[in-house]
Amino acid sequence: MRNETLRFLVLVLFLFLCPTLSWKKEEFRTCEQTPFCKRGRSRAPGSSSVIATDVAISNGELTAKLTPKDDPQSKPLILRLSVYQDSILRLTIDEDPSLSPPKTRFQPPDVLLPDFPSTKLWLPRLTSEDHGAASSVRLSDAHSAVLRQHPFELFIRHDASSQRVISLNSRGLFDFEPLRHKSDGDDWEERFRSHTDSRPYGPQSISFDVSFHAADFVYGIPERASSLALRPTRGPNVDHSEPYRLFNLDVFEYLHDSPFGLYGSVPFMLAHGKTRGTSGFFWLNAAEMQIDVLAPGWDAEYTDSLIALPSNRIDTFWMSEAGVVDAFFFVGPSPKDVLRQYTAVTGTPAMPQLFSVAYHQCRWNYRDEEDVEHVDSKFDELDIPYDVLWLDIEHTDGKRYFTWDRALFPHPEEMQRKLADKGRKMVTIVDPHIKRDDGFHLHKEASQKGYYVKDASGNDFDGWCWPGSSSYPDTLNPEIREWWAEKFSYKNYVGSTPSLYIWNDMNEPSVFNGPEVSMPRDALHYGGVEHRELHNAYGYYFHMATADGLLKRGEGKDRPFVLSRALFAGSQRHGAVWTGDNTADWDHLRVSVPMILTLGLTGISFSGADVGGFFGNPEPELLVRWYQLGAYYPFFRAHAHHDTKRREPWLFGERNTELIKEAIHVRYALLPYFYTLFREANTSGVPVVRPLWMEFPSDEATFSNDEAFMVGGSLLVQGIYTERAKHASVYLPGKESWYDMRTSTVYKGGVTHKLDITEESIPAFQRAGTIIARKDRFRRSSTQMANDPYTLVIALNSSQAAEGELYIDDGSSFNFLQGAYIHRRFFFSNGKLTSIDLTPASGSNRRYPSDAFIERIILLGHPPGLKNALIEPSNDKVDIELAPLWFLRARAPAVMTIRKPSVRVGEDWTITVS
Ligand SMILES: *[C@@H]1O[C@H](CO)[C@@H](O)[C@H](O)[C@H]1NC(C)=O
Ligand SMILES: *[C@@H]1O[C@H](CO)[C@@H](O)[C@H](O)[C@H]1NC(C)=O
Repeated sequence: MRNETLRFLVLVLFLFLCPTLSWKKEEFRTCEQTPFCKRGRSRAPGSSSVIATDVAISNGELTAKLTPKDDPQSKPLILRLSVYQDSILRLTIDEDPSLSPPKTRFQPPDVLLPDFPSTKLWLPRLTSEDHGAASSVRLSDAHSAVLRQHPFELFIRHDASSQRVISLNSRGLFDFEPLRHKSDGDDWEERFRSHTDSRPYGPQSISFDVSFHAADFVYGIPERASSLALRPTRGPNVDHSEPYRLFNLDVFEYLHDSPFGLYGSVPFMLAHGKTRGTSGFFWLNAAEMQIDVLAPGWDAEYTDSLIALPSNRIDTFWMSEAGVVDAFFFVGPSPKDVLRQYTAVTGTPAMPQLFSVAYHQCRWNYRDEEDVEHVDSKFDELDIPYDVLWLDIEHTDGKRYFTWDRALFPHPEEMQRKLADKGRKMVTIVDPHIKRDDGFHLHKEASQKGYYVKDASGNDFDGWCWPGSSSYPDTLNPEIREWWAEKFSYKNYVGSTPSLYIWNDMNEPSVFNGPEVSMPRDALHYGGVEHRELHNAYGYYFHMATADGLLKRGEGKDRPFVLSRALFAGSQRHGAVWTGDNTADWDHLRVSVPMILTLGLTGISFSGADVGGFFGNPEPELLVRWYQLGAYYPFFRAHAHHDTKRREPWLFGERNTELIKEAIHVRYALLPYFYTLFREANTSGVPVVRPLWMEFPSDEATFSNDEAFMVGGSLLVQGIYTERAKHASVYLPGKESWYDMRTSTVYKGGVTHKLDITEESIPAFQRAGTIIARKDRFRRSSTQMANDPYTLVIALNSSQAAEGELYIDDGSSFNFLQGAYIHRRFFFSNGKLTSIDLTPASGSNRRYPSDAFIERIILLGHPPGLKNALIEPSNDKVDIELAPLWFLRARAPAVMTIRKPSVRVGEDWTITVS
């Protein structure tokens, strides 16, 4: 006995000391331990016998009732089908409110774009099909939505080919558990580890199958660390896989390849196939969701239901613990069309401030003002640009957010002002857990006003987090969001200045002593909403309220910057996100790419992974590779755990400092290009970094590639994910060539190249036929580069042509929404470069004035022999000379360069070479 106790103690000590064993699998539920998931997975195809009746058009929508065929007495569900501009189909299914269900089921408010409902089209009529067994409505000239009644099935059809695009309940798995009044003998409690969920409304889950037709792969449904193309989770040759889980959790030391859900949830899946293109399905529902991707033959055990399937159809199975069906179907057909359609529903990404697109330096923690000053001055000493210095939780007075530890940070305003003098900003952390301390004004106010989330018995929910005993503001309530936003005013947030921005962490929410490290599902929110119904959107509302706070603080003049760990559909409207607490190892470096690509595919383009890895100490080589890759993340921040060794760029010897500095310089040079892409995302929903197939949708070799990615349409980047790599295989898609970004070496497209790799850089290529704008003068921060001249890099294709865009505005205000920006298209063909104004002729009552000029134009891929360039309208002639492609390092090759053409970036001009 004593022996066993000792063994136990040794084990505890071992687990404690051995952080690599730290993913605590048993802390989290499996599907088997989650009753709705277990029930869902056990159902057989065809087991749903729901039929649709009373199909009609009412108020411009299709309406119908859904009832089980074998139980006509049961209360019918109400189905509505509506059509929106751009061929968007919306399906809602809910209980009939006129039959007084025990409670209104929750639909997450403020996620749909406020303008979206106004794009609804009025459905004039129904068309009866298949001798009355089905009805259809037109989605567009090309597509119809067909509702089959017996059994119920909904599909979108491409009319000309009669091919299906997406369908729902084709496999007969639809199930909707209606709310019931509890009666004697109902035992609805659920237990998990030491936690009990009272489940006062009993089982209320919803599940159904969605099939994507003519699809080769499915993507999306972040957030998790796994491949870009989603692998099947059920069927032959899939052993014991969990479904993809959407449940926002603070997962300590997450695994690098797992279907397990992490900090955020976007219930949006895309399908892509070579023959038809892209389609998408979005279920607006904030409860826990579990999604199976079904391998062909998954239904083999149910032989009597076996239907011969076309091989390129992908069946998926969606299960949610609560809520309603509010589903959106997108027909594409191109990948960018699907992004446009999806962001018409949930919004395009907010336009970030320019500084936030630059490099961020973070650590848990920069200890005190002296430390901040030291780190800041080191960057200057070494000529490494950076824009933002971050402070983690230790800067506060005992983890009371909006306060400062006055011993460590006695002069926060002055500290911020010193940074601001160099064009730099500061970010501080503000988490949702509020310390339950009667001396803390925020707590006093929140508890007096009843602004906290309540526990199942109606008291303020009290959970354990960084400050100890904590409560959580109920930001579902607009009034509480308003109150929260006020806390960011300069008056309320003492020690804050206009150059201070905010970081929201732990907003899943993380509760150290809660079930699965989060809030109990029977906790109660505004309007009697159970936490289970809104869990995945809690962090979203908190992020929204914080961003509103920064907006109000600046009287609506400055664009907010708020980084959030938790996320939901629509988070792109409120700020940036990052992939949470990753680890300093090569696998985590590699998985950062599919994670960021997946977020971008679901509308959230402003994302990044902690450069260097949060946990653990990276080897210098890994750190350098991480900077080289991170320089292309949309959000570029280095961050490290409290217990790691310091790892500012200069701590690994001169050579590594040089390499890190170069990686950061590449990012600063490309800022004009990145900023242009952020504006493209802001107007079109198309993400900043994209999977290759988004640019090459018919090239099958790209469909599951997640080691390389496109930055916009012009750059292809491939990470180096192994130690001491000497070679890398890089597939360059398309028919046209690619130019190595550093050496200008030309590589053929459509070929996998085996490349020699050095420590100096990771492979990056400019696509032939594109023009990229750079800024090649390095300063302390992006703000100080505002008026710097541009370099244009023209990469000619086989027709000796190229084009590219450049977007410029003041980098911080909202004036661009009134037309205060410059938007140019550069077009090169027949030896002539033309700068074309893309700002709309009318409607822009403001202009963004810029004196910036173009100082260099580099021509790649032109036959030699060019002598000079004629500039019009000035009629000046300048020489064409050979000059270095980059100023990054001496060995950059000399390339054909038009030096000092002295044209202004905002004006019309042409340059003819001869
Ligand atoms: C772009 O971002 C701004 C916020 O910065 C937002 O107000 C606007 O709606 C977004 N979309 C467009 C098309 O400008
Ligand atoms: C070359 O680039 C130009 C400009 O982007 C484009 O219009 C043209 O189609 C391209 N030619 C080829 C062969 O791809």
